[in-house]
Amino acid sequence: MRGGNRCHTTSVPLWIRCAWENVGGYNDGMIRRATVADVPALGQIINDCAEYGLMLHRSYSDLYEAVRDYYVAVEPIEKDGVTTATIVGVCGLKVVWSNLAEIYALAVAPAARGRGLGRQLVEACVEDARALGIRQMMSLTYEKEFFLRLGFVVLDRQQLPLKVWSECLRCPKNQACDEIAMIRTLDDVPVIQGPTAPVTQEADAYDVPVPLVISSSRKESRS
Ligand SMILES: CC(C)(COP(=O)(O)OP(=O)(O)OC[C@H]1O[C@@H](n2cnc3c(N)ncnc32)[C@H](O)[C@@H]1OP(=O)(O)O)[C@@H](O)C(=O)NCCC(=O)NCCS
Repeated sequence: MRGGNRCHTTSVPLWIRCAWENVGGYNDGMIRRATVADVPALGQIINDCAEYGLMLHRSYSDLYEAVRDYYVAVEPIEKDGVTTATIVGVCGLKVVWSNLAEIYALAVAPAARGRGLGRQLVEACVEDARALGIRQMMSLTYEKEFFLRLGFVVLDRQQLPLKVWSECLRCPKNQACDEIAMIRTLDDVPVIQGPTAPVTQEADAYDVPVPLVISSSRKESRS
């Protein structure tokens, strides 16, 4: 484990130290489930990354609705002699089907990168998937090397179920997606025999299903 054992530094409030002691020896900070109070901070991290085209923007409405998807990384950050528990990373886990969940909105604040927080956030989601009995996790990403290091492998995106692509409808790269599909299988989790997810379609079949012209009959019926 990288970093010193900051549980015993005197500048850290007691409640943070107590929380650290409950997270299995993770001494650089704390990974925990998000709460509604975290939403503005985690939304800022996600939407800052979205500005660089690394992920989709998420509204407060989206974030509050899906708050149970998210884990956050919290670190004590000292400013002017006051130490505050600060959200420095976020990652979501969305259940797609009986055997598949999606790791999404993974983002670590630039100043906190390279210290293992991204890995810890993904592993928290992996444990969540395991607890739910979900055998595979996928991600659509530009960070191929990062996910390779975490045991994911590249997958032909056409093998993913149609449901995975629902968010692509609001992505500006909809018809020109260059993200890499990656997947990790938990061999200790049994395959669930259940309904089959609708299969995916050819890439050129993803037309945005929004009518570009409002028909005159519809206008008339509204007036
Ligand atoms: C991708 C991201 C989450 C990684 O977070 P991080 O906290 O810096 O990553 P970690 O420190 O946990 O790195 C884990 C491992 O991956 C490696 N790694 C991380 N980023 C890497 C990169 N861009 N290229 C190659 N290896 C990388 C680390 O060296 C480390 O290797 P190790 O096995 O020797 O420990 C972070 O860079 C980020 O927020 N990027 C912007 C948002 C983004 O692209 N998110 C992905 C969307 S799916």
